[in-house]
Amino acid sequence: MTPDELLAQIAMEIATCEKCALHESRKKTVPGEGPARAEIMFIGEAPGFHENEQGRPFVGASGRFLEQLLSQAGLTRGEVFIANVVKCRPPGNRDPQPEELAACGEYLEAQIEAVNPSIIVTLGRFSMNRFFPGAKISAAHGQMKRVGGRFVIPMFHPAAALHQAALKPSILGDFAKLPAQLIEARKTLGKPLPEKEENAAPKSPKQLSLF
Ligand code: URA
Ligand code: SF4
Repeated sequence: MTPDELLAQIAMEIATCEKCALHESRKKTVPGEGPARAEIMFIGEAPGFHENEQGRPFVGASGRFLEQLLSQAGLTRGEVFIANVVKCRPPGNRDPQPEELAACGEYLEAQIEAVNPSIIVTLGRFSMNRFFPGAKISAAHGQMKRVGGRFVIPMFHPAAALHQAALKPSILGDFAKLPAQLIEARKTLGKPLPEKEENAAPKSPKQLSLF
């Protein structure tokens, strides 16, 4: 199966999944979306109100903020893969429970394997803790660490930064570092630039002004 076919099959399985209690109250499942060959994968927490209505990740206020943050890194949402640690909305946007995270984890694992990104950016602590159990986001944010055949960078959740003004400069700064981290990740992993889009490679404003 091609990565595209794999992702479509995972989404189909999620659409009828009843492996945890969240299936009872969901309206639409939110498997995640993006190119099967994305170099960067963002992993958030869980669908909220608007995501549950539309079946798409990050479409509410935090989605608009995420798009601004992506532009800090010279990226658009069309060139990254965006997913969540759970694919159905927790009632009232409560935190996902350990048994829900465990039940849904295999879909996320399968998506990571299908996309095979060079960098995973975790948004918020539930996503970070999948890779770094017990890590503190206040210390770990923005730091790129190798995990197996790729790199993981924890970042604050965009919704947290929207509600706590003090976090905004940190999250903006972390996104601004992403283009340089991608170059480093490609070099270390020995991955060439994706052939299709030499000029779609993330550029920081600083790099742009050199030319
Ligand atoms: N929307 C999502 O899809 N995920 C989040 O974590 C928050 C908002
Ligand atoms: Fe299945 Fe995940 Fe939805 Fe639970 S949250 S019902 S495991 S798709």
